[in-house]
Amino acid sequence: TYVVTEACIGCKHTDCIQVCPVDCFHEGQNFLVIDPQSCVDCGLCEVECPVDAIRSESELKPEQQHFLALNAELSQNWPRLVERKPALPNAAEWAERENKLAYLIR
Ligand code: SF4
Ligand code: F3S
Repeated sequence: TYVVTEACIGCKHTDCIQVCPVDCFHEGQNFLVIDPQSCVDCGLCEVECPVDAIRSESELKPEQQHFLALNAELSQNWPRLVERKPALPNAAEWAERENKLAYLIR
């Protein structure tokens, strides 16, 4: 599966959902996640993200591994998003931030 990681938090550009052939992105208030049970590993979304938030499961760094479980969990709770929408208002500012996980709105 592919996994949305920390860089997406506060940005939510949604370019990724435009290319997904199986509509497996789910939307929270300030983050998007991939449903690992639906992802067909096509890799199309990875290059679309302007903040480089999407990784193949096999490419996750050790400190990013927990995003695999987080995507699996939150995709069960959050609604599917199938149409692109504007990025969050302060996306440019959030793109520069680190350690954003504490700001994730579940
Ligand atoms: Fe969708 Fe393909 Fe990305 Fe999986 S890898 S989330 S199937 S676009
Ligand atoms: Fe997030 Fe990037 Fe998609 S910021 S919504 S993973 S295009």
